[in-house]
Amino acid sequence: MAEAALALSGVDAFYGNVQALHGLSLSLERGEVLCLLGRNGAGKTTALKAIMGLVAVRAGAIGKDGRDITRLPAHEIPKTGIGYVPQGRRLFSELTVAENLEIGLMTRKKGEETRAAVLDLFPVLRERLSQRSGTLSGGEQQMLAMARALCLEPDVLLLDEPTEGLMPSMIERIREAVSGLRDRGVSIVLVEQRVEAALSLADRVAFIENGRNRETLAAAAVRADPERLRRYVGVG
Ligand SMILES: Nc1ncnc2c1ncn2[C@@H]1O[C@H](COP(=O)(O)OP(=O)(O)O)[C@@H](O)[C@H]1O
Ligand SMILES: [Mg+2]
Repeated sequence: MAEAALALSGVDAFYGNVQALHGLSLSLERGEVLCLLGRNGAGKTTALKAIMGLVAVRAGAIGKDGRDITRLPAHEIPKTGIGYVPQGRRLFSELTVAENLEIGLMTRKKGEETRAAVLDLFPVLRERLSQRSGTLSGGEQQMLAMARALCLEPDVLLLDEPTEGLMPSMIERIREAVSGLRDRGVSIVLVEQRVEAALSLADRVAFIENGRNRETLAAAAVRADPERLRRYVGVG
């Protein structure tokens, strides 16, 4: 079997002395959208932070394309081709749209061609290049956060609740962008609270509870048997 694009195996992660992940295992296959579903506080965000080297991992291993990245310093992780859009978008709000994109481009020394391709995906940003990012709408800020991550030309993309707090029209735009990226072969971990949105995009779903992956199922199987949604997410 080919190596997973990303594999977590038995990961324990901590905030200080508080353990948030308990032996979490996940595998992201190349070209798929893997959705993490689970209640608030289940550990979804922490799982992404563990991949990015942003929380203390005290046991287990994280691999990208078969390479061990568990102990890489946080600033080295994006250079391996992992793009990360954190929950709540974290832009440099005093900087312009163009400057935010420049930061993404610099990370892996990408140039004008990459920038043009990313702006083709989110044309509205092209009209806002000199605008300070803090003055963009919520949906535009989410597009910029995704665009900045895409400036690395990642082959793995981690998206933490990208549609949180957005209007329906914007949610649809983000959805299309995620779907388009998958079509181009980007492997995607998507954290989504909204089950409908998750199931419409996901190839597989991992149910996260108390810092553990309870089970991973094909999205079609979850649709056919929504019992798990009741159990792990409390809806359906
Ligand atoms: N900065 C932090 N310091 C201490 N505990 C945290 C911190 N962030 C999250 N936690 C705890 O870690 C657990 C998992 O949180 P999180 O990964 O944010 O959950 P989710 O994204 O699934 O809602 C929760 O119990 C939460 O309270
Ligand atoms: Mg979260």
